[in-house]
Amino acid sequence: MRRFCSLLLCLALVLASALCLSGCHGSSDPTTSKELFVVGFSQVGSESDWRLANTKSMTETFTEDKGYELRLENAKQQQENQFSAIRNFMLEGVDCIVIAPTIEQGWENVLTEVKNAGIPVIILDRSVSVTDSDLFLSNFGSDFLKQGNKSVEWLESQVEGTVEEGDTLKILHLQGTYGATAQILRTKAIEVGVAKHSDWEFAGQLYGDFTEAKGYEVVSDFLRTNKDIDVLYSENDNMTFGAMRAFDDYGITYGEGGQVKIITFDATKKALQYCLEGKINLCAECNPLQGPGVEKLICDYRDGKEIPKHVYAEESIFTKDELTQEFVDGREY
Ligand code: AHR
Repeated sequence: MRRFCSLLLCLALVLASALCLSGCHGSSDPTTSKELFVVGFSQVGSESDWRLANTKSMTETFTEDKGYELRLENAKQQQENQFSAIRNFMLEGVDCIVIAPTIEQGWENVLTEVKNAGIPVIILDRSVSVTDSDLFLSNFGSDFLKQGNKSVEWLESQVEGTVEEGDTLKILHLQGTYGATAQILRTKAIEVGVAKHSDWEFAGQLYGDFTEAKGYEVVSDFLRTNKDIDVLYSENDNMTFGAMRAFDDYGITYGEGGQVKIITFDATKKALQYCLEGKINLCAECNPLQGPGVEKLICDYRDGKEIPKHVYAEESIFTKDELTQEFVDGREY
């Protein structure tokens, strides 16, 4: 009887350590679970604070002590680099591929190759535009159109009845990487807003590629010839920081009580601090902490559960009124 009990105990211990190692509940096969589950991750780049936080969330989630090996490839914002990384992952025989796509178009061929190799794919953050939706398991990311629509609604609430007869609200629009879902849908929201209001117009639409350096450069160039701006609608925080430096150079005031109202996307800690200080008027949140959500999808897949085709992260918008110093200090990114 004692031998039987110790045998049972050993079995229980083996099972418990197997479950723990896999990071997934109930998906382990005790005979194989000591092998790491290899995730190939093709990341867009390191263009923004948001992106760095997104990468960190993935590396902190897919750890060896949870039974994973994460192979991370930085595409430096080039889709071609993503294709090479993905083909290497296939050659290496990884268990799963996670892709944060630079742009939406152009994925059909490489994803077909991955499908033929029998490797599951999760699309992270942005989306891909493909005719065969079986080319990926699921898309975990942000509702970029909702972010844009909420920002435009906020702007409507702020400027309604303030534009004088015969005048227009002049919006400077800073755009992210052309063809990226975050750019396409945030742009769509403001373009629909401008089309809807006869007294709104674009002062300019500038290409900032989601980076602070480019944001500074294009806004500085613009201000050389035109300083008539009422609103900055900037598709990410880093471009906003660049634009704010350019405004400072030209003595243009912004934020609460300033010439230019600033709407920015991401709501990183630095942007929220500026918002609390009254330098930014609206931060539309884009949550980069997506690692745990991706892990859940992978676990469910390994457990044979049904996977939703699209999962959106929880996000809100912030003005100074919604913020406290404590909240900003506690921001993870
Ligand atoms: O796709 C998400 C966007 O990409 C974030 O808004 C931006 O900061 C990042 O570079």
